Amino acid sequence: MELPFPLPFPLPLPRGDSSEDRHAKLREALAGLSDWNTGVLSCQLLQWKVTPEYHDITSPIDKPGGISRGLPLLRPGKGLNLVGKIADFYSAWPEDAKPRIAKGTYQNTQKALSGIFKLCLHKYDAYLDLIQVEPFLPVSLPVEERRKIYTWSEVGGYPPHLAIVPPGDKHNDLFNASRLAGVKSLLGAVIPKELMDLNPSKGATLSENTTYNQSLVKEAKNIYINPNVGTRTTPRPPGVPLKLDWYTDFVFAQQYFTGTNPTTIRLATDEWITRFRDTAKGQGNQDMVKLIDEAAKAKSLYVLDYSDFRTMVGAEPTDIFTSNASLPGDTRKDRWAVAPVCLFNLPADDGILHPLAIVIDYIKDMASSVVIFNKRLDSSVTSIDEATDWPWRYAKTCIQVADWHKHELGVHLSLTHLVEEAVIVAAHRSFDDNHPVYRILKPHWLKTLAINEAARAILVPSVINMISGMKPEHVLKFVRAEYNNFNFTKRYILNDLPDRGFPLDKVGLGEKQFHNYAYARNMIFMWSILRKFVTGFFSAFSELDSDDKIKNDNNIQTWVKELREFGKLTTFPDIKTRDELIDAVTMCIHIASPQHTAINYLQEYYQTFVINKPPSFFVAPPTSLEALEALTEPDLVKALPMNQLRQWLLAAQLPHLLNETVALKESLPHYALTLIQTASEEEVKNAAKELYVDLGIIGEAFEQVSEKMDPETGGYHVMKPDTTAVSILI
Ligand SMILES: [Fe+2]
Repeated sequence: MELPFPLPFPLPLPRGDSSEDRHAKLREALAGLSDWNTGVLSCQLLQWKVTPEYHDITSPIDKPGGISRGLPLLRPGKGLNLVGKIADFYSAWPEDAKPRIAKGTYQNTQKALSGIFKLCLHKYDAYLDLIQVEPFLPVSLPVEERRKIYTWSEVGGYPPHLAIVPPGDKHNDLFNASRLAGVKSLLGAVIPKELMDLNPSKGATLSENTTYNQSLVKEAKNIYINPNVGTRTTPRPPGVPLKLDWYTDFVFAQQYFTGTNPTTIRLATDEWITRFRDTAKGQGNQDMVKLIDEAAKAKSLYVLDYSDFRTMVGAEPTDIFTSNASLPGDTRKDRWAVAPVCLFNLPADDGILHPLAIVIDYIKDMASSVVIFNKRLDSSVTSIDEATDWPWRYAKTCIQVADWHKHELGVHLSLTHLVEEAVIVAAHRSFDDNHPVYRILKPHWLKTLAINEAARAILVPSVINMISGMKPEHVLKFVRAEYNNFNFTKRYILNDLPDRGFPLDKVGLGEKQFHNYAYARNMIFMWSILRKFVTGFFSAFSELDSDDKIKNDNNIQTWVKELREFGKLTTFPDIKTRDELIDAVTMCIHIASPQHTAINYLQEYYQTFVINKPPSFFVAPPTSLEALEALTEPDLVKALPMNQLRQWLLAAQLPHLLNETVALKESLPHYALTLIQTASEEEVKNAAKELYVDLGIIGEAFEQVSEKMDPETGGYHVMKPDTTAVSILI
């Protein structure tokens, strides 16, 4: 069709006042860009020559070479020890992995790391699809056939998990053809020897670093697009200037109620109370002795007890935690971790968790360890300047370093990702695909096996080991010990909270003493509605309507045996009753959905500002109280990952990678909606309807819980049902 009038060519764009605005917007968009277009990234990787080597998959022999040279690929049918080779796959970067890029910017490196990791995840997904492990389109297989694909492995020292190469030569061939072994060096290869441009780690003082963090967030630069703990302020009356307060006792302590790890704090045992009391007495701190005596009587003393870290990794009581595992090309390598203990008071009249004392690294006994007491006996003391109490700030950082390990390796990796993986592998090896337990659980396994494999093969060796203060073998032993010590039934929410000294009635009713422990309050609601949903779902199936039937259900009994014997979850219940089945299934959903959401999706907020919760120290911890008390700000600056851009990059990047927003279709309410429209059984439809409605109701209840917290806490929103992921997605 002809245009009715002639147009000049090229068509001139209208020019005007808005052009400058557009360029300003462009600059803003570039500054806030945290991810790259995938196609452009692919071209860039080719230009950098950062690619796995090409292999002719029709050729029977793989030739080593290229970037994956450090990790010889498996060669099928040549009698090589497959297990040994897969163990290499989980080990650290190959010795010859060198930075390929001499200089680069922090921002581009961050985007390259994110982009590559996501591409690696796609590759894992594709490989698992190929070998028919949770394939994109489901296949119906009798359980005997599925048992050949889902097999157990303990390779690499990890707890029992899915064998990435199921038995059989054909699987070896497929694994080789997948070239997964070639991707593990990629992350290391794109970190330039020298990083320039943005430096979020910089600062001669802590407040300089804090102010810089604030300006990054203000300008929405790079991954610093959202507020983080370093930008928070205490609410003040109108006219009173706001103060950044991330380092205060209040913010430090509250993280153990509503931070990344709200699952470890517990009532102090008499033994710990006596140890701290005696030490306070020994230091002539009579005020503290009196306070401990009173609080002990009121049963308001709580602890974070990390004194067992050495036992967990099989170290001697006086061994020092240190590591020099490093990024290719690193110059400052030596790092340290600690095994501290913190004593808190939680007064019934204000419910403000307040740290009283810290053993900075529990070595053998109290007498051999450095113990410091807070000069602020309670949260109302304002005569002490918290900003400049450097010895106490250092001690609090010890707890944060230790909790970085407890949280990332234990509570997060081991006790959600890996425990759920055992549940998944055992279920695939036990249930017919129309069994009600399989049907209720399967939607809660989305993406979990692929992300777990990527964690073992990439995140632990290439990120965690490069920033942790524990050496790689200790990291592995720690993960394993957490798994071995996990008590499945004791951690049911209704058992867990009272076991840790949080009575259900008092917490549930929001008594003053517990009004700031929003994680616990929310979880009581969440557990109740999940259990109700499981009960309703199972009511559709006559095969599960009596204890006898459950006792004689071969699928269920095989699942139990698989988990206890081969999954080595020895505390998984020996299910003989309907109640036991409902509880166990509720727990499997709880771990995959609300529990993982609560402990995963706050990492970016608390950890991209790395000095709040660093993964290690760069200077050995003081070995005497005198040395600790002599510690000043420059000492803390040297000890933190400040002005350590490469480590900062990995430490901030890890939480950023893991905190992608949950898509609507991967949320718990969306799961319920879909089930309502698809289930053929009325009882299942009804259970899903009630779940959806209940999620709405508890969503409102969570808001009320959050509003009732002290305003200084900033509230607690991570468990909002709309953004509670249906499974362990990342
Ligand atoms: Fe996670």
